[in-house]
Amino acid sequence: MLDELFDLLRIPSVSADPAFAGDVKRCAEAVADSLKLAGALNVEVMETPGHPIVFGEYVVNNSVPTVLVYGHYDVQPADPIDLWDNPAFEPIIKKTETHPEGAIFARGSCDDKGQMFMHVKALEAMVAEGNVPCNIKFIIEGEEEVGSSHLDDFLEANKEKLSADVVLVSDTGIIANDTPSITVGLRGLSYVEVEVTGPNRDLHSGLYGGAAPNPINILCEMIASLKDEDQRITVEGFYDDVYELSSEERSAMARAPFSETSHRSSIGIGAHEGEPTYSPMERMSIRPTLDVNGIWGGYMKEGAKTVIASKAYAKISMRLVPHQDHETITRLFTEHFNRIAPPSVSVKVTEMHGAAPAVTPTNSPAYNAASLAMTETFGKEPVPVRSGGSIPIVASFERILGLKTVLFGFGLDSDAIHSPNEHYGVFNYFKGIETIPLFHKHFAELHED
Ligand code: BES
Ligand code: MN
Ligand code: MN
Repeated sequence: MLDELFDLLRIPSVSADPAFAGDVKRCAEAVADSLKLAGALNVEVMETPGHPIVFGEYVVNNSVPTVLVYGHYDVQPADPIDLWDNPAFEPIIKKTETHPEGAIFARGSCDDKGQMFMHVKALEAMVAEGNVPCNIKFIIEGEEEVGSSHLDDFLEANKEKLSADVVLVSDTGIIANDTPSITVGLRGLSYVEVEVTGPNRDLHSGLYGGAAPNPINILCEMIASLKDEDQRITVEGFYDDVYELSSEERSAMARAPFSETSHRSSIGIGAHEGEPTYSPMERMSIRPTLDVNGIWGGYMKEGAKTVIASKAYAKISMRLVPHQDHETITRLFTEHFNRIAPPSVSVKVTEMHGAAPAVTPTNSPAYNAASLAMTETFGKEPVPVRSGGSIPIVASFERILGLKTVLFGFGLDSDAIHSPNEHYGVFNYFKGIETIPLFHKHFAELHED
């Protein structure tokens, strides 16, 4: 089971970079082959205008419920590659403090190849034992890390093929290996790129400096003004639709174990940031954010060049919470950013990604099945938690297919997804493979038509 995962991890299926398009395709085929090997039928690599989607199914009969398993085989770029202790696409097992049984180090090990592959291996085990309690369909996509832009059309076009009773996704995490949890909320996302233009060309900073507007300085001032002294986002209307949790909901959330001190030391910071009236845990899950993800312009190579650049750029993400609408937020941001620009520059805002926030039920047969399964394998009942990350398709499954999702992830926040040295615990991989069949067993029992 480890070797086969390693083979998948060796394929650099980076969806963001066109240079890897061939590898992405090769990875889709490898996933399809592994599904066939596990016993799935009707396995297809289905083309989209972007990267392909892998479909497969195992049909028992129509008296048992159907589970649609979603995952993604694409990965984030490995950059900055110099910061990896071992090459990103040469998986290796190493022991760490959090993973004394060893962790698999490779890009995509946790997000999401390792987690997606648990479902393939779980199917294989169930088929081998002649005990598959539910019909299981698989939809494994290759564009999650770039916003799943072709998935909505795919869902629209394949409603019948994808019909199911629930969606099961392992692409989130648990609190700790001895503290299981089930994610019941994800943030949405509005992601924009901004361009600020000053003079019509790069200028000598001596001859023109002092009177020529410097778009980099101005962009920095504009960005600084996007939060006030209370760390509130200043975009007009930004908080209008934010759902404020009741004090009961907040105290229920606060029961999930979280140490502010160890969280600070785990990321090497002296203090947390953010709205003082919310705990750091709340700031990372139930509150919206605005963060610069990249900023550039002017001279960035060796040595010094005296220049006032014509243009400056930044990429900005806003994580959204219920009931914020990403299109509305993108519009409000664009209007605000144009409004605050001084007359010396012009600005352009381009929308990059959008995703709706999602909240999943905690009282459904599927949630209860997940909870029972984890209780059996971890020996402890999982706690429901809200995560700060985004999975754009969760809202799409609900809107297009009318399906609720169970977020049945087994990663840890400290597994460094999207960062150098991403890893996934060997314990977590096998715990997932062990727990998934129990989900199907309990769901078949608890589900009613
Ligand atoms: N699997 C992550 C999201 C995640 C991780 C949610 C851990 C909760 C806990 C997913 O692959 C991801 O990275 N999503 C992107 C979405 C974006 C590319 C549209 C994100 O959250 O930045
Ligand atoms: Mn993921
Ligand atoms: Mn990701």
